[in-house]
Amino acid sequence: IKDTVRLNSGLDMPQHGFGVYLITDEDRGRAAIDRALESGYRAFDTAQFYENEALVGQLLKESGVPRKDLFITTKVTNPKQGYDSTLKSVEQSLKDLQIEQIDLLLIHWPSKKHFFETWKAFEKLYDEKLVRTIGVSNFEIHHLEKLAIKANIKPAVDQMEIHPYFTQAALRDYLKKNGIAAEAWSPLGRGAVLGDETIGKIAGKYGKSAAQVIIRWHLQSGTIVIPKSQTPSRIAQNANVYDFSLTDDEIKTIDARDRSDGRTGPVPDKVYEEI
Ligand code: A2P
Repeated sequence: IKDTVRLNSGLDMPQHGFGVYLITDEDRGRAAIDRALESGYRAFDTAQFYENEALVGQLLKESGVPRKDLFITTKVTNPKQGYDSTLKSVEQSLKDLQIEQIDLLLIHWPSKKHFFETWKAFEKLYDEKLVRTIGVSNFEIHHLEKLAIKANIKPAVDQMEIHPYFTQAALRDYLKKNGIAAEAWSPLGRGAVLGDETIGKIAGKYGKSAAQVIIRWHLQSGTIVIPKSQTPSRIAQNANVYDFSLTDDEIKTIDARDRSDGRTGPVPDKVYEEI
């Protein structure tokens, strides 16, 4: 997995990483992370909310893969937002992950209460080089515009739900115009898109699975993608997407699978402060 995206901070981020949400069991987690590393994954996406930073840190350390070859993302959870508590919680994340520096730190969900204070703490962590790049997650256009009023540093990444049933075309367009990289969580629509007939037909043409076609759609659309699976064979399958390429027409056909009820996760403005 060699594709990278140049972020507005100047950092090159792997375009295809591994999501570790729901990995909390040590044995299953080891099998998953070992298979991900064997399959070529070097970027790992965790969060304080997942309560697995210590496990992920331990498993990555035990793998023996040099730290410099890994790209680690984590996110500040909403109850920890605010200036002081962000700084403190990131100190804990660094300890749990057993690293000196986080590659990408994200605000997990926009918070009404601590909107600017959390970002000020992020800018301090960036200046102190405790994090290499800062960004946001689940921010819509109006959140990004509000943040821009007081931000000295522009977010490098916005990680949000994107998949063929929820393509977020308007938001992705805005991000592109503003030099912010789009990153997809639940890139497979939590499995919901895997049975799509149109995508199945395209997959059949290439002798690939629907998941592999969807991952290619993300990659060819310029989106950073972090599929997750706890099934070793699927982890290897999801990494194996570099021996075929979708046509522009196929990309457009998949774009058109977007539907008004495609969202699987929460609406950002309706997320309670405690999530
Ligand atoms: P599992 O972990 O049991 O392998 P998303 O990243 O969109 O949230 O989707 C994650 C879900 O998709 C998980 O339930 C995962 O199941 C499943 N999944 C991931 N990769 C594949 C694949 N290649 N084929 C089928 N299901 C997959």
